[in-house]
Amino acid sequence: MTKNKIKDLVSRLTLEEKAGLTSGLNNWLTKPVDRLGIPSVRTSDGPHGLRLQESEVNKKLEEITAPAVCFPPACTLACSFDRELIKRMGEEIGKECQAYGVDVILGPGVNMKRSSLCGRNFEYFSEDPLVAGELGSAYVSGVQSQGVATSLKHFFANNQEYRRMDWSSDLDERTMREIYLPAFETIVKKASPATIMASYNKINGIHSTANKQGLTDILREEWGYDNLVISDWGATHDRVAAIKAGCDITMPAEKTDDNIVKAVLNGELLEEELNACVERILQFVFELVENRKGGNFDFEGGHKLAEEVAAGSIVLLKNEEKQLPLNKKAKIAFIGEFAKSPRYQGGGSSHVNSKSVKSAFDAITSLGLSVMYAQGYETDARKASNNPELLTEAIEVAKNADVTVIFAGLPENMETEGVDRSHMRMPEYQNELIRSVCNAVPNTVVIMHHGAPVEMPWVDAPKAILDTYLGGESIGKAVVDVLFGDVNPSGHLAETLPVKLSDNPSYLFYGGENGHVSYSEGIYIGYRYYETKELKPLFPFGHGLSYTDFKYGNLKLSKSEVNSSEGLNVSVDVTNIGKYTGKDVVQLYIAPPKGTIKRPVRELRGFEKIELLSGETKTVIFELNAREFSHWNIVTHSWLIEEGEYTVQIGENAHDIILSEIVKVNAPKLPSGLKYSDLTTIGDFYAHPLGKEFVEANLGYMLFGMVNIGMIPAALIQAIGIKEGDRVNLELINTIAENAGTAQGESGGIAVFLALSINMLVGFVPEETKEKFATLLDEMNWTGSF
Ligand code: BGC
Repeated sequence: MTKNKIKDLVSRLTLEEKAGLTSGLNNWLTKPVDRLGIPSVRTSDGPHGLRLQESEVNKKLEEITAPAVCFPPACTLACSFDRELIKRMGEEIGKECQAYGVDVILGPGVNMKRSSLCGRNFEYFSEDPLVAGELGSAYVSGVQSQGVATSLKHFFANNQEYRRMDWSSDLDERTMREIYLPAFETIVKKASPATIMASYNKINGIHSTANKQGLTDILREEWGYDNLVISDWGATHDRVAAIKAGCDITMPAEKTDDNIVKAVLNGELLEEELNACVERILQFVFELVENRKGGNFDFEGGHKLAEEVAAGSIVLLKNEEKQLPLNKKAKIAFIGEFAKSPRYQGGGSSHVNSKSVKSAFDAITSLGLSVMYAQGYETDARKASNNPELLTEAIEVAKNADVTVIFAGLPENMETEGVDRSHMRMPEYQNELIRSVCNAVPNTVVIMHHGAPVEMPWVDAPKAILDTYLGGESIGKAVVDVLFGDVNPSGHLAETLPVKLSDNPSYLFYGGENGHVSYSEGIYIGYRYYETKELKPLFPFGHGLSYTDFKYGNLKLSKSEVNSSEGLNVSVDVTNIGKYTGKDVVQLYIAPPKGTIKRPVRELRGFEKIELLSGETKTVIFELNAREFSHWNIVTHSWLIEEGEYTVQIGENAHDIILSEIVKVNAPKLPSGLKYSDLTTIGDFYAHPLGKEFVEANLGYMLFGMVNIGMIPAALIQAIGIKEGDRVNLELINTIAENAGTAQGESGGIAVFLALSINMLVGFVPEETKEKFATLLDEMNWTGSF
């Protein structure tokens, strides 16, 4: 519908109707206005599959939620690092939505994994904004290519479930811009999501739905977003404030439309502000209705794609003595209840009523292979504890096999929306099972199921570990294909797996107090922290093995020196030197120079997933732009580059860097951000051109003054032959310090001098110079003076 028609329609709506349109009809539908032919559209949860729900109380989940294909959730998808695969999955979900008459699927969730404890980590992609932004864009493009809208969530800084409705994420400007906003920014700019969901939490004290800085200043004015903003379900607490801030629809149904009408009548809310929301709502609704196609959905095709996605996301964490792949003729034992009933998705609003679930046990037997089985443990939370009988049975079964595969991980009740975990441990009965079986038999493989990092105190015991995260309904077949090498694993970790919870950078602050959570670790989340702090994780971000080996070479930069506004092309050759076809994730990091701005030692700035036949070489090209070298500058409130030598690195993961090349980036000097005063150190003063002139012109007075009051011996300055009022530079000061025998060590002599505040020097200068000092400070404090 054209803009003019929409405006005409808006002009025919009553004030009450307009107010009504800004909230839902019920839990899932937007409000229609039958009188003017304005239809309603249907939203539904997801996002890793459709969760079409009719709200009927007292019924079981399966009775009220339509059966659908359960794809792997975002924690798993992210490990694929595969934009194309995720786009195809999005397309498939879009088709399923069309078949079920769903217009908007509520996702993807792209919040950063700040802590391993967040109960919703399984719904989020990564600890890295580039990964979440790129893969989230692929999902949104896929779904929306089918004429179905997405809802990018939860905007923003929504990183814990504890007290999720009212805690305030207190974070500084740079942390917001560099860590918590960029994934949203990338998706807005690349994939234009039809809606964005404003989150439950407060941001620096203001609820997201009323946060004008986020919803209007940044989202609309800076990033140019002109689609719809909707509230998370029940996240609006002041309808008028929400509209004023830029939140168009409050979901679900609300009985507070009158507040909006009153606010317009008493002038608190301008009718134009309300009209702007209504125009966006009508544009959105009519477009979706035009896009409706209906049709039938091919569940089998969907199940097959879910299998491909799961297989493409499984991470081979370790593989000693090439334990994997397994020989189909080997006598194999499966141990652990997850072999028969896999843990494949998380709990809460994203929980899908899977059309069909295939376990690894089903998959291996349907290949006609026999496998021994022992339950090992019970996942039912009421019964789960160390069960000596199950343990003994597991060891006996393992002893009769050539290879034992243990299926382990977190039970469903430990990971769900609305609740955070209180620790990072697996159930102790599983740890004991893994240790005992690995002690009893030599050839062991552990298959992990979990939505967020867990401690693995037994990590050295098994020969191989395959991490499936939460693999969706087809996980069983995907695992079996990887076990036998029918699929070569190619997943890589999209988050760091720390050794223990207290290693996590947010450990001291997570959860918060008095309604406030301080994001004091700032920009140092995930690998940005572990690498900068030199703290060894269990497995680093980006890690993932393959049954084949890759060799990297020929790293080339298009230029060795660039100006800050120019781009840089980087190419690298990757060769498959092993005997299997395999996929690799080529990772490009940039390490900044040691400058005046504190930065992580390296940050991921590009990744590509490529497939190589045995012996094949491919050249991967990355196009870097200025933003890739920038930091968010809090003096200018913009992206700036600090001049210096940046190292372009190709890494197997965030820790193991294989190739690197240096590029010199020229850029204007950064504004210092220092407020010069009489307490500024002589060193900082000296770093400013005007300050340097002042120090050199007046230092002589200080030296003579110090002699006069007996602070330094006259012989020291006589030795260098200066007269009162002479210019003195730092070399001369250094000579004095050397003569005094105080120049040794980094904190000796001159360092002590530079650490004195400038008022020490000013105390000795002639009166007329003292009078001019205030003017000098003003000049130096003029922003952008150099
Ligand atoms: C969740 C959203 C979800 C919505 C609708 C909220 O509680 O935070 O992610 O889309 O409910 O079910």
